[in-house]
Amino acid sequence: MFPSHPFAPLVIRGRSLLPIVQGGMGVGVSAHRLAGSVAREGALGTIASIDLRHHHADLLERCRATPDRATLEDANRIALTREIHAARTLSEGRGMIAVNVMKAVNAHADYVRIACELGADAIVMGAGLPLDLPDLTQGRDIALIPILSDSRGVGVVLRKWMKKGRLPDAIVIEHPAHAGGHLGVTNLDDMHDARFEFTRVLQEIDEIFTSLQISRSEVPVIVAGGINSHEAVRACLEAGANGVQIGTPFAVTEEGDAHPNFKRVLADATSEDIVEFVSVTGLPARAVKTPWLERYLRNESRIRTKIGALTRACPTALECLSACGLRDGIEKFGHFCIDTRLAAALRGDVNNGLFFRGREALPFGTAIRSVRDLLELLLTGAARPVVAGRLAFSLG
Ligand SMILES: Cc1cc2nc3c(=O)[nH]c(=O)nc-3n(C[C@H](O)[C@H](O)[C@H](O)COP(=O)(O)O)c2cc1C
Repeated sequence: MFPSHPFAPLVIRGRSLLPIVQGGMGVGVSAHRLAGSVAREGALGTIASIDLRHHHADLLERCRATPDRATLEDANRIALTREIHAARTLSEGRGMIAVNVMKAVNAHADYVRIACELGADAIVMGAGLPLDLPDLTQGRDIALIPILSDSRGVGVVLRKWMKKGRLPDAIVIEHPAHAGGHLGVTNLDDMHDARFEFTRVLQEIDEIFTSLQISRSEVPVIVAGGINSHEAVRACLEAGANGVQIGTPFAVTEEGDAHPNFKRVLADATSEDIVEFVSVTGLPARAVKTPWLERYLRNESRIRTKIGALTRACPTALECLSACGLRDGIEKFGHFCIDTRLAAALRGDVNNGLFFRGREALPFGTAIRSVRDLLELLLTGAARPVVAGRLAFSLG
C-alpha cells in the first residue's frame, strides 16, 4: 500500500481514505481511468458525469446517425454506466468511486439515479445548491458531498438537509480565485473576497456546526483550489481541513482521461495564459487562453450586443444545461456551445477546444507523471525519479 505519510486519514461514511481527493472534471477529463486509478491507491476518485458519450466511439456513431435529444441523452446514460463499471473494476475495491454531478445540468437527476444503481460510493454535487440531493437518493446507501464556496452556502444546505433527516457525508469548499472550471461566485470581481479564504470558511463552519448542535467530526471538510504542493496540503490540513481536493494536477497525469494535447495545454500554460470569463451557465469560469477562447473573448461584447438576446436551437440537440446563455438568449451569460468546446478540448483539438484549468503552477511543473507519483509528492514531499520509457495513456 501507500508509503507512510504524516496525515490523518479522511474518513467518509466509515471508509478510511488518503486525505487527497481527485475532483470531478468534465467533459470526460476524469472518467473511469483517472477515477479508478486514484481509488486503487486508496483515495477518492471522481468520474465527472457530464456528456461521457465522447469516450465511446459506438455511442458517438449512434448519435451521428440519429442526432436527436433522446438518442444523445440515452448515449450519455449508457456511457456513465460503462464508466462507473470500469472504474470500479480498475479500483479493485480500494478507495472510493464518486460521481460528480452538476446541478445546472438538465439530466442531473438521471445521473444521480445511475450512480446509485451502479454502486458508486459517493455523489459530489456542485454548480448550484444541491438541495434536492437527499430526495433523489432516498433509501440509497451512498455518500452525499455538496460543493460550496463559503460558509453561508454550508448553512443553507445543512439546514435544508437536516429537515430531511440527512447530513452531508463530507463538504467540499472550493476557492473561486484558484480552482479550475466553473467557479462558485456570481460576480468575477468578488472572487478574492475574504469570505472564501479557507481559514475563515473553516472557522465559520465550526461555528455553524456548533449553532446547529452537530458535531463537526461527523462531517469532514475538504478544501479545493490551487493546492499544488506537500506544504500546501499540510497547511490546509493544519488549518482544520480533513482533506484536500485536487483538479488540474490530476487532469495532467498519465492516467488522466483526456488526449495528450489536452494535458500539454494545461501543463505548459503560464499564469499569463490563464483567464476568467463568464460561461454559458452564467457562472464565471477559468481556462487557458487557447486560440478559440482568445477569439471569443476578443469578440465577446460584439457577440453579446449582436446575438445576446436572441434565442436559438441548441446546436448539439442535447440541451445539456437547464439555463444556457446561447440557447436561451441570456445577454449577460456567455454565448458559445460549451459541450462542443469542451468535447473538442478532450479530443486534443487545441485550436477549437475550451481548456479549463486552475490558476496555480503544477506540482511537477510541465512534466506529465503518474497518479501514484502525484499522490506520493503531495503526501510526503518526495518526488520519485521518472521511470524511463513509461508510455502516457491516450484516448482509446
Ligand atoms: C478541466 C477541469 C474540469 C473541471 N470540471 C468540473 C466539473 O465538471 N464539475 C466540478 O464540480 N468541478 C469541475 N472542476 C473543478 C475540479 O473538480 C477541482 O475542484 C478544481 O479544479 C480544484 O482546483 P485545482 O485545479 O487548482 O486543483 C474542473 C476543473 C478542471 C481543471
